[in-house]
Amino acid sequence: MHISALFSSALVLAGSALAQSTPPAFLPAVNSTLDVYYGTTYVTPGLMLRKSATQRAPTIGVTNATLPGTYLLAMIDIDVQQQGQPGKRTTVLHALLQDYKSSGQVQNGSTILTTRATGPSSYFGPAPPAETPPHPHNYVFVLHEQPANFAVPAAHRQAVQSRFGIDWVRFMADAGLSAPLFANYIQVQSGDNTVR
Ligand SMILES: *[C@@H]1O[C@H](CO)[C@@H](O)[C@H](O)[C@H]1NC(C)=O
Ligand SMILES: *[C@@H]1O[C@H](CO)[C@@H](O)[C@H](O)[C@H]1NC(C)=O
Ligand SMILES: *[C@@H]1O[C@H](CO)[C@@H](O)[C@H](O)[C@H]1NC(C)=O
Repeated sequence: MHISALFSSALVLAGSALAQSTPPAFLPAVNSTLDVYYGTTYVTPGLMLRKSATQRAPTIGVTNATLPGTYLLAMIDIDVQQQGQPGKRTTVLHALLQDYKSSGQVQNGSTILTTRATGPSSYFGPAPPAETPPHPHNYVFVLHEQPANFAVPAAHRQAVQSRFGIDWVRFMADAGLSAPLFANYIQVQSGDNTVR
């Protein structure tokens, strides 16, 4: 009895060491962690950051993987309060950047990926409004292999342009994306008004 209780708590600990790289509320779930650096800060999945630390696009990379292709990065806030619908949450697209490739540069063991693209949606930093009680926003990063001839599907152009209400599962299906290769996420507290 005691032994099996110990054993199962050891299993729980082992499980948490393989922590998911996406928040529980986000689909698709991803286990492989994208290396994300805001300045010199390495992001472990779910790390809470000050708003002021997140206003410039992060550096991204991967560890123990070779990425010889072209990749697409999305960053999605999944905790946006829906106007006039208390308790309901929607999404805001904070970045959709294409044409990432391995740069050959290595930082802290991460092979860094870079792009010159500023679209389809340029990066804009988190600025979650104050809420009572405070509700930290989760910002999810997903890295996909970018299909040849990638384009934002017509059904999602409005969401990409307005940034509101992107449905990533449907976007993936409509754009012909396969499952994300790597993911990560940060949190920023609502009402954080720190300045750099
Ligand atoms: C992530 O890891 C968990 C636990 O090992 C596993 O059950 C799940 O299928 C994995 N998910 C993916 C998408 O690989
Ligand atoms: C380097 O990467 C490891 C994970 O691979 C991380 O735990 C560590 O904090 C990183 N250090 C720096 C200085 O970025
Ligand atoms: C990378 O591979 C090395 C050697 O197999 C291993 O020790 C390390 O934990 C791996 N790092 C990650 C982030 O998977």
